[in-house]
Amino acid sequence: MSDAPGAATFRTPADAYDRHIGRYGGELARALIAAAGVRPGDRALDVGCGPGALTAALVAAIGAANVAAVDPSAPFAEACRRRLPGVRVEIARAEALPFPDAGFDHAFAQLVVNFMTDASAGVRELRRVTRRGGTVAAAVWDYAGEMTLLRRFWDAAVALDPSAADRDEGRSMPFCTPVELGDLWRSAGLEAVQVGPVSATADYDGFEDLWEPLERGVAPSGAYVAALAPGQRAALKQELQRRLGVGEAAFRLTARAWIAIGSAP
Ligand SMILES: C[S@@+](CC[C@H](N)C(=O)[O-])C[C@H]1O[C@@H](n2cnc3c(N)ncnc32)[C@H](O)[C@@H]1O
Repeated sequence: MSDAPGAATFRTPADAYDRHIGRYGGELARALIAAAGVRPGDRALDVGCGPGALTAALVAAIGAANVAAVDPSAPFAEACRRRLPGVRVEIARAEALPFPDAGFDHAFAQLVVNFMTDASAGVRELRRVTRRGGTVAAAVWDYAGEMTLLRRFWDAAVALDPSAADRDEGRSMPFCTPVELGDLWRSAGLEAVQVGPVSATADYDGFEDLWEPLERGVAPSGAYVAALAPGQRAALKQELQRRLGVGEAAFRLTARAWIAIGSAP
């Protein structure tokens, strides 16, 4: 199976991801875990775990022995395994999960369904490995609206180069509206589906702290920066800083995601 557009941009060093989108992951994970109703003794699977933001929050909630995680990116899966001893971490895609039916109380996909090659197949797999009455839960950024970092980033990129509009994740990403995400959950056969917003924040030491990981090519935004010529890159850096209205002082950004929770039949 080949990568969906954007998925290959995660075969990058884990620390670059940590300093870019990863900054938001822990807070988002705690909101998702609370919404899914995870309780001590439950077993949970983190699909598309990346370097392990949600996996770590699950370990804190239910212990490493009750948590499994998969990701197709070898550097991310290895980082997750190294950071969280005792968690079973496999290199695998959502569309073909290496687990038997109904083995988990909860299956999660945080910031992943929009990168799956076949999201319908992937969510059906999350449902298959979840016991009857267990929850299948996901979060997807509100790319077109209030994911401040990425919204300002793509607005700046398109202002400088209108042909970048095709790359704008607010346009290119599937399942980043409540309606589309809810439809994906219901069409996978999940029941009692609920979709709603959650917010997460990230703290930056200053604009350079935000910009530096973008140059390392991680995620579609970073891949876009890394492919620019030096002059274009400098112009984008300046335009993004102007649009964010930040400087050398520390600041905080807020990001909204849509979450979907459904019950396995
Ligand atoms: C934005 S990152 C999210 C990582 C992590 N869940 C987090 O919240 O920080 C997207 C992740 O999805 C993974 N991914 C891409 N295609 C996938 C697929 N078909 N199945 C499972 N994961 C996939 C990527 O390798 C990457 O780690």
